Amino acid sequence: MDKIEKIIRKIEQIPTLPIVSRHIMTLLEDDEVPLKKIAEVIEKDMALAANLLKIANSPFYGTLSKISSIDHAIAILGISEVKAMLMASSIHHFFSTPETHSLDRKRFWHHSIICSQIAKHLSLHFKTGGEDGLFLAALIHDMGKIIFDRYFHDEFITIIDTIREEHESFSMVEKRVLGATHYQIAAKIMQQWNFPESVTMLVFYHHAPWQDKNHTTSSIIVYLANILAKIVGYPCMEEEKKIDVTSFCKSKAMKYIVQNGFDLDEKKFRTLIKNIRKLVADEGRSILSIFQ
Ligand SMILES: [Fe+2]
Repeated sequence: MDKIEKIIRKIEQIPTLPIVSRHIMTLLEDDEVPLKKIAEVIEKDMALAANLLKIANSPFYGTLSKISSIDHAIAILGISEVKAMLMASSIHHFFSTPETHSLDRKRFWHHSIICSQIAKHLSLHFKTGGEDGLFLAALIHDMGKIIFDRYFHDEFITIIDTIREEHESFSMVEKRVLGATHYQIAAKIMQQWNFPESVTMLVFYHHAPWQDKNHTTSSIIVYLANILAKIVGYPCMEEEKKIDVTSFCKSKAMKYIVQNGFDLDEKKFRTLIKNIRKLVADEGRSILSIFQ
């Protein structure tokens, strides 16, 4: 059996994601249900309620007064972000059971949360409007790595060790060791789990938005958010390949981003980095503890 076939067989056996908050998800799907009713249900889950309040109070949302009630938090965040949080927290629980984790989960979720917050910031900054699913895609874009960690554990240890020694990118090493990347595996699972096609595609193209012909703007935002999360000090792994801002600004990728309507050059990109650094610093440690 070749490598790819082995991977496909194995992931076909991965069970369906148990939606822990099935009741809340059903409520969120129904447009007729008043916010108050959703808030009442969320309030029963103390950990979830606390996390939603942390996010709503994040400097990324720029609210002046402290948000202390769940219905206010839902109104600030919007239904699609509340949904994204629920989904990410289900995924977190689903893939977090094994005894040994070769990938530092705290760092992994920090990277994911910061990336989703940056995506939110970018959609406001560039006035692109947040496509439904953008926040969720940014939050779970790297879930393929925790799928590898759980279901291809030995190979994943080799991947992590190689990155530590060679300071290469995940995708590069994953192709070499497993013959498939974290974004390919994530997209496959997401299809299996019947995720909305747009979210699956944003995850699939988060390293190559120029290949996504249907959701170009959102794909660029997730791509940029991932890069910016690394630049401001939140990579998935400290030892992974670093991004050089000057060469990134001169890259073909940046040219493509500008061609697609993003008003950027090196100076503007550096200002963006400065502003995001400030938002992340103001954040304190609060939202970063969400998935611990
Ligand atoms: Fe990635």
